[in-house]
Amino acid sequence: MKNENPSDTQISDKYTREVITGIRTWVPGKLFSFTCTRPTGFRFTAGQFARLGVNNTLQLPNELDIVWRAYSMVSSPYDEHLEFFSIVVPDGAFTTHLNQLKVGDTIFVDKTNFGFLTTARFESGNDLWLLGSGTGLAPFISILHDPATWEQFQNIILVHSARTAEELVYQETIHGLNTHPMLLELVDNLPNRFQYIPVVTREVVAGTLGQRITSLLTDGQLLEKSGLKFSQEDSRFMICGNPDMVTDIRNTLKTMGFGPARRNKPGEIAVENYW
Ligand SMILES: Cc1cc2nc3c(=O)[nH]c(=O)nc-3n(C[C@H](O)[C@H](O)[C@H](O)COP(=O)(O)OP(=O)(O)OC[C@H]3O[C@@H](n4cnc5c(N)ncnc54)[C@H](O)[C@@H]3O)c2cc1C
Ligand SMILES: NC(=O)c1ccc[n+]([C@@H]2O[C@H](COP(=O)([O-])OP(=O)(O)OC[C@H]3O[C@@H](n4cnc5c(N)ncnc54)[C@H](OP(=O)(O)O)[C@@H]3O)[C@@H](O)[C@H]2O)c1
Repeated sequence: MKNENPSDTQISDKYTREVITGIRTWVPGKLFSFTCTRPTGFRFTAGQFARLGVNNTLQLPNELDIVWRAYSMVSSPYDEHLEFFSIVVPDGAFTTHLNQLKVGDTIFVDKTNFGFLTTARFESGNDLWLLGSGTGLAPFISILHDPATWEQFQNIILVHSARTAEELVYQETIHGLNTHPMLLELVDNLPNRFQYIPVVTREVVAGTLGQRITSLLTDGQLLEKSGLKFSQEDSRFMICGNPDMVTDIRNTLKTMGFGPARRNKPGEIAVENYW
């Protein structure tokens, strides 16, 4: 079959070589995003992740040794490029190398898409709560840009928890949802259906809530802020990021009567742990 993407080189049955096309540093040495060419035929559902590979020549200078890690797609299923949002882990085998890549450099992308943090997990529901910590925001940006999400849910509430204000990234993108041309064409009354609730836990920042999501759930602040109510009929929760946060929120929601959405067993919660 003809390869329609000149940058996309098939080098194995399992993965392709792609090219970095853009980099945005959010917090130097800690948080950045990048775009790359999209492998020909690479399809995914909003919320899924890819496996990315870097050739870690810094540590193994004479070998083609690829280090692989899971990365949620930030970009939407309909975007021509792929976009990812990354932390830099000090001495991390993958991210210390990834952080040094420049536009034009190579990144390997596994041909398979992975993951079940998708709205297909929910058979019903009216209000979709997207609860993320740190880089766990990534899949929610993709989900929010998918018109299908807005067809499935009436209200969508994005809660992003970060340690500091500078880590509340993708602000323009999030605030731009209400005027996004693709969504405006396809989604009725979107501005009244979307709420963004930023949370900053290690400094006091105007316009944000200041406690962990777990506390905001139990003390009623999230409900008060959103003007919504929790119910098994309406509420659905997606949780992504720090595994301790995922566990603690899941346990908190359990005490409120919510349970995991499993195959053959409908539920209200879908989660993804990042480490
Ligand atoms: C399904 C899935 C999706 C993921 N999607 C993303 C993503 O979109 N963006 C992203 O940056 N990472 C994501 N990760 C984490 C990513 O796969 C790597 O762990 C990360 O790139 C660090 O790699 P490393 O080799 O440098 O350090 P590792 O050796 O992999 O990790 C070392 C330590 O760093 C911390 N850590 C790892 N990842 C993160 C993180 N994202 N935020 C905060 N602390 C972290 C943990 O304490 C971990 O034990 C995802 C992980 C999974 C399982
Ligand atoms: N951010 C930094 O400056 C920094 C510096 C050095 C190392 N690191 C390393 O980077 C990694 C992650 O950093 P990060 O800032 O992206 O992510 P993080 O530690 O997961 O923090 C992101 C947000 O999640 C909240 N959170 C963490 N655990 C939670 C829980 N159990 N329940 C509810 N909310 C919870 C945090 O609140 P709290 O603030 O209350 O924890 C914060 O608001 C860590 O492994 C850390 O060792 C980060």
